[in-house]
Amino acid sequence: MTESAAMPSQSISPESAQRKVRISVLRYNPQERGSVPRMQTYELEEADGMTLFIALNEIREKQDASLQFDFVCRAGICGSCAMVINGRPGLACRTLTRSLGSEITLAPLPVFELIADLSVNTGKWMRAMSERLQAWVHMKQIEVDISRLEERMEPELAQKIYELDRCIECGCCVAGCGTARMREDFVGAVGLNKIARFRLDPRDARTDADFYELVGDDSGVFGCMSLLACHDVCPKALPLATQIAFVRRKMAGAGWK
Ligand code: SF4
Ligand code: F3S
Ligand code: FES
Repeated sequence: MTESAAMPSQSISPESAQRKVRISVLRYNPQERGSVPRMQTYELEEADGMTLFIALNEIREKQDASLQFDFVCRAGICGSCAMVINGRPGLACRTLTRSLGSEITLAPLPVFELIADLSVNTGKWMRAMSERLQAWVHMKQIEVDISRLEERMEPELAQKIYELDRCIECGCCVAGCGTARMREDFVGAVGLNKIARFRLDPRDARTDADFYELVGDDSGVFGCMSLLACHDVCPKALPLATQIAFVRRKMAGAGWK
């Protein structure tokens, strides 16, 4: 009898057991002539700590080099790997396959322009929204004076602004929102969160009347039907419900004046 044969057989716990996962991807390339939307299923062995991002890369390397999807940071920072995972928007690089069943369905985020397969142009949408909302600090003092001392900001206020600045513009909140699906011009929770952020900033010279001009209609805060999917799906757990309610209150007040 060999030494290894004498060893007691190791039991495999359900957590560490390898399983096969089947990933069905909605494939379509509007740039390619003759391409039609279809589901394509790939099967692969699940590895320890496998994320959807790792799984998709493995599929692209070993099974299908034509599969298109986006990623940059692999760490939940750049927002580019957002997609619809089993019907819910989320980040591929922050989703463990282990947290899902063995049958997984992936689709591109709706609302945004489709590039191909799971790749969408969130950048174009975010840029248009940011330009429309003038999502930058409108300084009170226009002239630059390099000898002037920096303006102090209370740490608590800086922390509040930082909290809202954590948005990575992934587009999950927009993709999950019924209003955004119905209205092309809706600025989404991401846009309303930006208004809340700049309204909080004491360096921004804009008044509520100015913000009302930007979001005081149905394409802005009054188009929001409080569906709150945005709040549920935001991968950075931003307090979107609170921020939207805050902007709505302030804009309703500005509208009465
Ligand atoms: Fe993504 Fe959240 Fe920013 Fe929306 S608010 S774009 S879900 S990080
Ligand atoms: Fe849409 Fe969120 Fe309002 S899901 S309707 S932006 S509360
Ligand atoms: Fe950057 Fe997923 S790759 S957030």
